[in-house]
Amino acid sequence: MKFEHHVFVCTNSREEGSTKGSCAEKNSLELMTSLKRMTREYGIENIRINKSGCLGACEMGPACVIYPESIWYTLPAEKEKMASIIEHLSTGKICHEYTMVIE
Ligand code: FES
Repeated sequence: MKFEHHVFVCTNSREEGSTKGSCAEKNSLELMTSLKRMTREYGIENIRINKSGCLGACEMGPACVIYPESIWYTLPAEKEKMASIIEHLSTGKICHEYTMVIE
C-alpha cells in the first residue's frame, strides 16, 4: 500500500533527571494516539503514523516529522490545537505555527 503521508512521532524516554529530557515526558505517546484518532475522525486515509525512537530534536519535542514533505513539528501540548497538524495531513498545507527550525 502506498501512503500519502507517513508520520513519525518520537516516543523516546530517558532516565529521570536527564538534561536532554525526552519526548515521552512531554506526553508524546498520548499525543500520537490523539493524532491517530483524529485522522480517523476526519476520514484521512492512506496515512501511516508510527512511533519512533529519538529523532535528535529532543529539546524541541514532542518531535514529529511528516513525509514526504519532510516537515518537522513540535506537537502542541493541547490536543485541541492538533487540528492544524490534521489540516496538513488532509490538505498538504504546512502549519507554520508548530514547525521546527532544524539546523
Ligand atoms: S527524545 Fe524525542 S527527539 Fe529526542
